[in-house]
Amino acid sequence: MKILMVCLGNICRSPLAEGILKDKANKLQLNWQIDSAGTGGYHIGEPPHYLSQKVAKENGIDISSQQCRQFIKEDILLFDKIYAMDMNNYYNIKQITKELWNENKVELLLNELYPNQNKEVPDPWYGDEKDYYFVYDLIDKACDAILNNFKKEIT
Ligand code: 4NP
Repeated sequence: MKILMVCLGNICRSPLAEGILKDKANKLQLNWQIDSAGTGGYHIGEPPHYLSQKVAKENGIDISSQQCRQFIKEDILLFDKIYAMDMNNYYNIKQITKELWNENKVELLLNELYPNQNKEVPDPWYGDEKDYYFVYDLIDKACDAILNNFKKEIT
């Protein structure tokens, strides 16, 4: 499976989602390709936010070598599944991909955990440390759900 995690900045939420799902997939010896990107281009080339790095590290996950990149139209062809953190990300992906848009490939991350509820991973960018812990927890549970749903599909 090729999975892309998408948020606005690719600096707070999607780098965590990439790091967490990679860690879980590796532990299950799944040969998945997991990447992340942002619909905005404000932080291209930068590492993840220090608070995202901190909560990841406390959970044994090193995301310090990730580099921010912007979501491009062709990503929708390259990946099997694209997870948006919130509705704005979802609509931005739709706008960027134009005629390549494929609604079967794009889903809100939390719909894996709470099907059809369209819940969002809140943006911690203007928040403080506790918001990063909250976001970590949500993404961690959603990534468990991705793997559980995948196992159900293949059995
Ligand atoms: P993210 O958070 O989408 O979770 O990476 C943000 C990071 C930066 C900005 C907005 C959201 N920004 O406006 O620079």
